[in-house]
Amino acid sequence: MSMQDDEKRLAAQAAAEVVVGGMTVGLGTGSTVAHLLDALAARSLDIRCVSTSTATEESARRLGIRTESFDRVDRFDIAIDGADQVAPDFWLVKGGGAAHTREKIVAASADRFVVIVDGSKIVDAITAPIPIELLDYGLESTLRRLAAHLDGPVVRRDVPVSPDGGVIVDFLGSVDRPGDLASAISATPGVVEHGLFGPELVSAVVVANGADVRWLDATG
Ligand code: 5RP
Repeated sequence: MSMQDDEKRLAAQAAAEVVVGGMTVGLGTGSTVAHLLDALAARSLDIRCVSTSTATEESARRLGIRTESFDRVDRFDIAIDGADQVAPDFWLVKGGGAAHTREKIVAASADRFVVIVDGSKIVDAITAPIPIELLDYGLESTLRRLAAHLDGPVVRRDVPVSPDGGVIVDFLGSVDRPGDLASAISATPGVVEHGLFGPELVSAVVVANGADVRWLDATG
């Protein structure tokens, strides 16, 4: 196991410790979340979980973690997920696994959104790529309008459409102010969701550097 994977596991295990029986739990997507699932399964808690992807859903079920449809849950006590970048002001980039639309809905539905990362994800400033999910309907027009409004190229990612049928693209230009970029992307008709997560969504970041695990409070 690599050092980075060890750090993912330690961050995930620390976050799993704050989950207690009776909670509703939103489960993110990715290799760090895979460690979270292992840690939750090891505790055999009576919890109700909703997954943000088919991959998470299948792993959770295999490990004996009870998952439900999002139709049956309207809020979460906690959601836990990885990230691709975490800036000092707690702006995040997510969507390396193309699951950011579902992940953002789950994060926004949670009383606490806890982000679990290895040390490499902590950055001085947010940079491209910024994942974006687009409606397939009018795709070429949406791409043209995005390119006209944003300061940089937007390219289609070579991945399958999302479970909700959305096309995954990446903005590759410069990111001076994440909030301005997030607003500009969101204001473009045809955009389903982008992978910039504002600090208002984030409760805490658990980051592991080697064996050192820290909780960074994002609510202050
Ligand atoms: C998926 C995500 C993941 O949380 C993000 O890409 C981090 O992945 P990993 O834990 O594998 O490093 O946003 O859409």
